[in-house]
Amino acid sequence: MADKIKVLVVGGGAREHAIIDALVAGGAETYCYMPFLNPGIKKAVKGYVVGEIDRNFDELALATGKYGIGIAVIGPEVPLAAGIVDELERRGIACVGPVKALARLETSKSFARRLLEKHGIDVSPKFRIFEADNADHIPAWLDQLGSYVIKPDGLTGGKGVKVLGEHVTSREEALAYCNQLLDRHPAIIIEEKLEGEEFSLQTMTDGKSFLHFPVVQDHKRALEGDLGSNTGGMGSYSDANMALPFLTTEDVEAARRITEQTAFAIRKETGIPYKGIMFGGFMKTASGIKLLEYNARFGDPEAMNVLPLLKTNFADICTALTLGRLGEINAQFDNMASVCKYVVPEGYPENPRSGKISIPPTENALVYYGSVCEKDGGIHTTASRAIAFVGLGDSIEEAERIAEKAASEVGGRVYHRRDIGTAEAIRRRVEHVRGMEA
Ligand code: AMP
Ligand code: GLY
Repeated sequence: MADKIKVLVVGGGAREHAIIDALVAGGAETYCYMPFLNPGIKKAVKGYVVGEIDRNFDELALATGKYGIGIAVIGPEVPLAAGIVDELERRGIACVGPVKALARLETSKSFARRLLEKHGIDVSPKFRIFEADNADHIPAWLDQLGSYVIKPDGLTGGKGVKVLGEHVTSREEALAYCNQLLDRHPAIIIEEKLEGEEFSLQTMTDGKSFLHFPVVQDHKRALEGDLGSNTGGMGSYSDANMALPFLTTEDVEAARRITEQTAFAIRKETGIPYKGIMFGGFMKTASGIKLLEYNARFGDPEAMNVLPLLKTNFADICTALTLGRLGEINAQFDNMASVCKYVVPEGYPENPRSGKISIPPTENALVYYGSVCEKDGGIHTTASRAIAFVGLGDSIEEAERIAEKAASEVGGRVYHRRDIGTAEAIRRRVEHVRGMEA
């Protein structure tokens, strides 16, 4: 079906590198529209344009015309929020990614919470939405909740969410943060702080049918033992059998059902079928599976765990999705575990120090280039996550060894989390859930 279809991937990070590799493996002729020249992507694609991906869609139009693009796959959330899909669809290019109105599932947390509430999908923590004119009720709500999380109602690159006890330590600090947010955002959400283990479920949908990927667990903290600052994600793992060691089959099914109900709810609400990726950030709690947030794109790093496991042609899947025929695809995965580890600059995320790195050839690991650039004939880190290594194996331990070996061989002023995917780190998570249930 997808014989030499020309696909444009928007975005220039390691996630997009993985998307491109999956499309190339599916026989697609692949192009990239990226905000900076990613040397890994440059090698993987047939052609590319470097330009602004969140505005100036004229440049994008030139690129699609020049290459005769058939469909586009949108990697990051910022172009979705800017309406890139609306723009591409106007030009006759079908997209894997929602139009702006539906991307609100990610770009507006108040929209997502209200949607679920209105449609009886009862998986949210207790929450209230505040704007400048009801801000005087915030102190009473904080007191009522006791333990809470404060979120701005907009995209903040994962950096705006503050959890009591972690990022704010007193009621005064919390109130000051709320006021600060309300100066810059139209609304904030204050919700009950949940306890549990987080996991990611990525689902492709055409609004009617669903292709659920294996569930993944990300590691947001910069340092081993889940210490240090929050980051975009230092690495992630998935287990064989579409499972995770701390989840039951029923837990995974519950998360899938929530995503399917949400897709139907958003269609009912807007009249438009959701075409693209729904990435649910879930938490297993003592009172069941709860939803923390939806993203309207693949996860970074989570995409790198699951795309290499696809046995079904990814270019065919993308084409079927854009045609509203995803139901005709019976997707299969290799029954393997995966571990992804990001190598990042020293000092990341607060004070990243960029510099030249060496990347020896890997034996078995897959390599995805993130925020790096070519300079003076070498590869240099920038300010963000540099290179991701993925190991696949029959067990998480085996996958971990492959990813760890590759990550530890990178030379230069960089670091990575050695604990991701180790037996010890997984045991702690399983015990956390057991303790919760006791
Ligand atoms: P979000 O962007 O909404 O996923 O929030 C970012 C991170 O904040 C999540 O990955 C969680 O670690 C944490 N978080 C968000 N909402 C809650 C909540 N209701 N309870 C506990 N932690 C939360
Ligand atoms: N890894 C979390 C995200 O992509 O948002």
